[in-house]
Amino acid sequence: MARCRIELCWGRICAKHTRTLEPRLRGWLRDARLADAVEVVASGCFDRCEQGPNVRLDDATIVHGVDFDRLRRIVADAAAAQVEGRPGRHQRERKR
Ligand code: FES
Repeated sequence: MARCRIELCWGRICAKHTRTLEPRLRGWLRDARLADAVEVVASGCFDRCEQGPNVRLDDATIVHGVDFDRLRRIVADAAAAQVEGRPGRHQRERKR
């Protein structure tokens, strides 16, 4: 199964938030049995520090100002889209 890819910014500014977001995200993915559908990786700074904390989805869409609830919704949609073979919301928004 193809996996969606979530890059968490671990740059100096975002890291203050990422250090709590990442373990919560990984725990939620494990509990939701989505750990195999979503690849979570660390990234360096996206040069959007003032809009952080930032994440990048599938090597393209940068989402700014994420908190855990927003990140969870984004990842749940992306993972469901992956399973259902349809574009995720973030992919549809990218095409506009
Ligand atoms: S530290 Fe995250 S975008 Fe720069």
